[in-house]
Amino acid sequence: MVKTIEAPLLEVRHLHKRFDKPRGLIDLLSGAPARGLHAVHDVSFSIAAGETLGIVGESGCGKSTLGRCLVGLHPPSAGEILWRGRPINELGNSFAISHKIQMIFQDPYSSLNPRMTLAQTLGETLKVHGIVASKSERDDRIDELLLTVGLPPRLKDHLPHAFSGGQRQRISIARALAVGPELIVADEPVSALDASVQAQIINLFEEIRETMGVAFLFIAHDLNVVRHISQRIGVMYLGQMMELADADTLFDTPMHPYSRALLSAIPLPDPEQRNLVPSLEGELPDPHNPPPGCAFSSRCPRVTAACQEAIPALDEYPSDQRVRCLHPYQPQISRLDQEKSRHVL
Ligand SMILES: Nc1ncnc2c1ncn2[C@@H]1O[C@H](COP(=O)(O)OP(=O)(O)O)[C@@H](O)[C@H]1O
Ligand SMILES: [Mg+2]
Repeated sequence: MVKTIEAPLLEVRHLHKRFDKPRGLIDLLSGAPARGLHAVHDVSFSIAAGETLGIVGESGCGKSTLGRCLVGLHPPSAGEILWRGRPINELGNSFAISHKIQMIFQDPYSSLNPRMTLAQTLGETLKVHGIVASKSERDDRIDELLLTVGLPPRLKDHLPHAFSGGQRQRISIARALAVGPELIVADEPVSALDASVQAQIINLFEEIRETMGVAFLFIAHDLNVVRHISQRIGVMYLGQMMELADADTLFDTPMHPYSRALLSAIPLPDPEQRNLVPSLEGELPDPHNPPPGCAFSSRCPRVTAACQEAIPALDEYPSDQRVRCLHPYQPQISRLDQEKSRHVL
């Protein structure tokens, strides 16, 4: 029997994004090389239909730049983005793909027009994308969208300022859903919200994935936030993917020293264990001037001279973990052993 292998919904291959600083007159006269910042450095991954991939890493590691490249807000410097196996730039104009991939931002207020009511905001999106034929169809669709995201339709004539932060994020989710996307890039969508509201919005994303089959690239700086909604998690550091693994595997047996350090930043309920867990040491290097070799070498407890010679490859392990490290922790050790041995990190 011939087995057909379906292309993933989205595939990113060796994506790079550099921001080159414009060279001033003095640079030009002295012949100094352009000073660039490699915000996304050789990032590869795929997302299956209906899957949530979490992306985590400290502020400035390139998460938003990566998300922006996927929705066409930044042209990549190199690499490929494939949609169902076809290069995204071959799929016609960016308008066609904007139906398929939608982006949600951290601060919903800045992406909502303060002078447009909820109904006008959603109505305009439906109109611009040619999704509804008549006014009554539009009104029905608006009510349906509001119910999907848990907002009472009676609030539809209110302006954005009348809503709480969590409600505004629900509005931007409704607006993203209005065009029928297959993938939503959610860039720190709950970082600005209170913990209790965070949980409600995260549950809403999970409900949308389960009932509508929408896939998510869910960006957060906190591993805890992505833990329960991601099937897989990618850990980024200074523009590079350091580890990519199944979510449970990453939590049970993190292999990259940076993944371990991020995990140990998660508060543990047991105070005795908490004392064994050191925080991430040292400062984040200047992204304009990353350390030679492994980007994490300047903060890594396992660093050797070899780490500073070349950027390690993203190696694949039998546990299905991809890890960019010369001296990874081995996946066989149990969670309990790790807790005990964390003080050596
Ligand atoms: N438009 C831009 N021009 C120049 N540098 C940028 C631009 N956008 C982001 N950067 C830089 O790229 C790096 C990655 O930023 P970003 O993707 O916003 O990180 P994150 O979302 O993980 O906090 C940072 O050093 C940031 O200063
Ligand atoms: Mg960001």
